[in-house]
Amino acid sequence: MKVQKLYNHNYTPYSGQPAAAVVQSAKGHHFAGKRIENISYPLTVSAAQNALFCCISEGEQPQKLMVSKPIGPLIAYWKQEYNLKVSQLPEKSKASFDFKNITLPGSSSPLDLLKSLLDRAKVEESNFPVAAIAETKEGFVSGVNIECSAWNMGLCAERIAISKALTYTVSNINALHIHTRFGEFSSPCGACRQIISEHLPKKKIYLYHADGSQSVHFSNDLLPLSFQSSSLQNL
Ligand code: THU
Repeated sequence: MKVQKLYNHNYTPYSGQPAAAVVQSAKGHHFAGKRIENISYPLTVSAAQNALFCCISEGEQPQKLMVSKPIGPLIAYWKQEYNLKVSQLPEKSKASFDFKNITLPGSSSPLDLLKSLLDRAKVEESNFPVAAIAETKEGFVSGVNIECSAWNMGLCAERIAISKALTYTVSNINALHIHTRFGEFSSPCGACRQIISEHLPKKKIYLYHADGSQSVHFSNDLLPLSFQSSSLQNL
């Protein structure tokens, strides 16, 4: 895929400034990341975080990070966290990468997949693995929670699955499946509900609880009175 394509289908309705990143893993595979903004600006996922967490959630170790300009100050954090080589992403029109396929066949059983994903979660701090699947027409896209030395730099499984789906597929996300190994009830956190309300409006959220029971909810019921974009002036 041409680097140029990484700037297509970015989700940057608020800044209008797409950004892209590519991670090369220790195995030599390439993973893509695009900037995914949110109406609540601090919940925005940067291109670098998206590409890094894509690589890690696919069970690989990031080694090299290539980012588009301007290279922001948080890149220094990622460099140190994962001991990365960092460089600028090559010219849009010239370079191309063969990205590793990350979509899973939509015919698989979501719960079986979720169970098999849990061991990829990076949960050194919480020991609370979570797995999520974003369902699209082009297949399933997975996520697991990834914790970092700075807790606020990690992301929940749900947000990783959604960011990867928005990066790798062009169709809408039709449903989200979530499973936790422990706890009384598998339930997305408030920040994830904000992201869900933006990318899965009125869609089904399937929860697979640790005790083996399941429940299905409409996304709009999970976040009543959610923050909407109508009052922002830069739209
Ligand atoms: N976590 C999720 O992945 N999803 C949720 O909806 C709830 C919380 C993760 C984040 C962190 O790695 C751990 O669970 C404890 O907060």
